Amino acid sequence: MLTFDAAKCEARDSYKLMSGLIVPRPVALVSTVDEQGQVNLAPFSFFTGVGSVPPTVLFCPTLRRATEGPAGHRKDTLHNVEQTREFVVNVVSEELADAANATAAEVAPEVDEFKLAGLTALASEVVKPPRVAESPAQMECKLLQVIYTGHVPGAGVIVLGEVLRFHVREDLVENFRVDPVGLAALGRMAGNTWVRTRELLELERPK
Ligand SMILES: Cc1cc2nc3c(=O)[nH]c(=O)nc-3n(C[C@H](O)[C@H](O)[C@H](O)COP(=O)(O)O)c2cc1C
Repeated sequence: MLTFDAAKCEARDSYKLMSGLIVPRPVALVSTVDEQGQVNLAPFSFFTGVGSVPPTVLFCPTLRRATEGPAGHRKDTLHNVEQTREFVVNVVSEELADAANATAAEVAPEVDEFKLAGLTALASEVVKPPRVAESPAQMECKLLQVIYTGHVPGAGVIVLGEVLRFHVREDLVENFRVDPVGLAALGRMAGNTWVRTRELLELERPK
């Protein structure tokens, strides 16, 4: 067993350990708009559900590292969500892999990643950011809270939101149960490695 004192780890090494050990992570393809209505889309794998009453989710845009633009600055998604307090989480299916990956390009805020990735914007019901029409499921969310865990490059920022609308492709849901094989959601491992979610394991819960 190798033990690493986190206090002595370089930031990039802690990141490598976290992204290698916290696996697989679901990928939230997050759409937001800025004050002028400029649309943004980017993937975030530090993402999970929090609770269901009310339905809450969180994702974590880190403050930019030097490789991600001006070090310590907010990513466009975080800037937008702080300004307009709304976002949409689009589920990434296998068919969406290349397009979702393309939206991770570090581009200027005025670049619409829907266009960049060849994706179609679909109007949301109750929030301004559009949904990704090609995604098999989307969640319209309003911002509850933003929590900064630090203010240096690589520091995590928790964006906590309440889900106002769930949209699921009709053939994928029955009595609120989602067909996991049909959904074919992708997860992320470390670096450029992703994972499929079609190989399932059933375990009976102990009484
Ligand atoms: C699959 C995948 C998962 C990612 N997860 C995260 C994440 O959890 N947090 C983060 O800050 N960046 C993450 N990124 C990088 C961002 O998507 C990237 O910095 C993006 O350009 C941010 O866009 P924005 O500035 O338009 O918000 C991920 C990239 C990929 C490809």
